[in-house]
Amino acid sequence: MGKTIVAPSILSADFADFGGALARIENAGADWVHLDVMDGQFVPNLTFGPKLAEDLRRRSSIFFDVHLMVKSPELIAPAFAAAGVDSITFHIEAAAQPRQFLQAIRDMGKKAGISIVPSTPAATLNELLPYTDLILVMTVNPGYGGQELIPECLQKVRFLADERQKRGLNYLLSVDGGIHSQTAGAAVAAGADVLVAGSAFFSVPDGAAFVRQLRNC
Ligand code: DX5
Ligand code: ZN
Repeated sequence: MGKTIVAPSILSADFADFGGALARIENAGADWVHLDVMDGQFVPNLTFGPKLAEDLRRRSSIFFDVHLMVKSPELIAPAFAAAGVDSITFHIEAAAQPRQFLQAIRDMGKKAGISIVPSTPAATLNELLPYTDLILVMTVNPGYGGQELIPECLQKVRFLADERQKRGLNYLLSVDGGIHSQTAGAAVAAGADVLVAGSAFFSVPDGAAFVRQLRNC
């Protein structure tokens, strides 16, 4: 749609220095910070809760893009909203009433996003498309950074970009997993507006050059 949004994920940061990671992301000129929340149940890994978002919020006004990879996301979303994040994205596979939950997130004054894992078809989202601000298409199986992008997932981005156009909708399309300078171009060509990058961002010496490179894909 518009300019490509680059969203580094602090999942690949040094967990003993989240403040430093946030500074690195801001200094690189990134648009958003992506916060990967994992509960050890929806995915086999654990990360952090709303306290981290709240503490980071005091240090920065950059857009906080929360990705909830948790069971029963309805229980934790209000605490992230109170922490001052900007968007809250949950998995359709984890929510009992996704349409109502999207509305509840909007009622909290936040952008509401919905995500699908690689095994979930994009058409599963058909009836929810008018009610979402963002769709996060996972391009790896969620749980860990540093995996390789599954190319078939980009067909779902294409499908959702077509639906957006056909139906006159305006959600953002985000891709998450295995995004780096070699894969970002294909994701943008498929229709992605938001590029989430964890390990690729934190492995380069020059974050600003990386952000520029992804933005210009
Ligand atoms: C994976 C997370 C991603 C992760 C991506 O479950 O949702 O946001 O940070 O990491 P990379 O960019 O290393 O694939
Ligand atoms: Zn994520």
